[in-house]
Amino acid sequence: MRILSIETSCDDTGVALLEIKGDRIKILSDFVSSQVKIHAPYGGVVPNLAVRAHYKNLPILLEKTFKKFDSKNIDLIAVTVGPGLEPCLWAGVRAARVLSLAMKKPIIGVDHLEGHIAANWLGPIGGNPKPETRNQKPLFPAICLVVSGGHTQLVLIRGMGKYKVIGQTRDDAAGEAFDKVAKLLGLGYPGGPEIALSAQNGTPDAFKLPRPMIDAPNFDFSFSGLKTAVLYLVREGVIRQSFCDLGGGWGSAFGGAFTKRLPNHPLITNRQPLTTDLCASFQQAVVDVLVSKTIRAAKEYGAKTVMLSGGVAANKELRKQMASAVKKNIHNASFLLPDPRYCTDNAAMIGLAGYWKYARHGRGDKVDKIIARANLNL
Ligand code: KG4
Ligand code: ZN
Repeated sequence: MRILSIETSCDDTGVALLEIKGDRIKILSDFVSSQVKIHAPYGGVVPNLAVRAHYKNLPILLEKTFKKFDSKNIDLIAVTVGPGLEPCLWAGVRAARVLSLAMKKPIIGVDHLEGHIAANWLGPIGGNPKPETRNQKPLFPAICLVVSGGHTQLVLIRGMGKYKVIGQTRDDAAGEAFDKVAKLLGLGYPGGPEIALSAQNGTPDAFKLPRPMIDAPNFDFSFSGLKTAVLYLVREGVIRQSFCDLGGGWGSAFGGAFTKRLPNHPLITNRQPLTTDLCASFQQAVVDVLVSKTIRAAKEYGAKTVMLSGGVAANKELRKQMASAVKKNIHNASFLLPDPRYCTDNAAMIGLAGYWKYARHGRGDKVDKIIARANLNL
């Protein structure tokens, strides 16, 4: 079966073509058109600019796909219907509806977060197993930490399509916190990779930053207090914004030069902190909270597998520290994580989630029922 998939929920336009034969998944083509350059000057996604870029990019990516593969050989069209920015979602939904009608092929609406979860089955790391098993080992129940620019959720997966959100952020998503802190420090956009780069040269315990809700008796998160702690450090002049807010890693490269020493500041633990130290300390605070809550959830629900997904799952420290925490704390559990290129938004993951949903329902959705839903829940 060949699935054409479209993703336009935020600021990446994605078009992919998947071929699924038995339990083998082959990604025939996978195009993502990034809008980083458009939104970087604003330090965040500007919805009307994003929509305009989706309408410009979609025909280009579809044409590139159809140049390589005959559109006659497509069996299913999968499209993200939510959650996301509604006008952006409509761009993909309209294109998918037209294609479905013109090509007379079934269409299926996909939850963006199920797509992120499905990314664990794409690429060299996830391998191409049947959804329920991997190397003959049952995967479920599984706990998946979905961490992106829009979401931070712990999802209990009891089987394919059986999702229960057991915890989520009460304010900022983890990726949003990375982006906002990077903006405060005058680093580039998106902030996650910029902070991670800068953190490589910093000391994670240089600043005593809060670990919000780490001991709360639930699986919810909160990151706005952590962001505010960084804001106060900037306001008090402990860390000055880099003058190089042009992006491209300039802030990280010069980060060490822009700090002021305030003796006896309660949040400083070493003697001469640097911007790189603040990035490392912030990253470690986020990772500590994410790892601790995920492990607790995995223990409580007897998880056989722990998974990561979403843009923040590309973070090397999170990947490394989650892997060793699973190994240390949860006996016999598998740890899955997507290849970094499938952590951030892409259409290949939507194609696979669309295939799963089509298989579950045994049919496609009605074209007029494919509607963008900004607040869709798993
Ligand atoms: O999943 P995604 O592409 O889009 C949403 O669905 O939101 O995630 C984008 C988010 C951004 O906030 C970005 O800063 C963050 O993922 N991100 C990272 C890293 N790479 C991307 N955060 C931390 N470390 C990274 N290496
Ligand atoms: Zn996403």
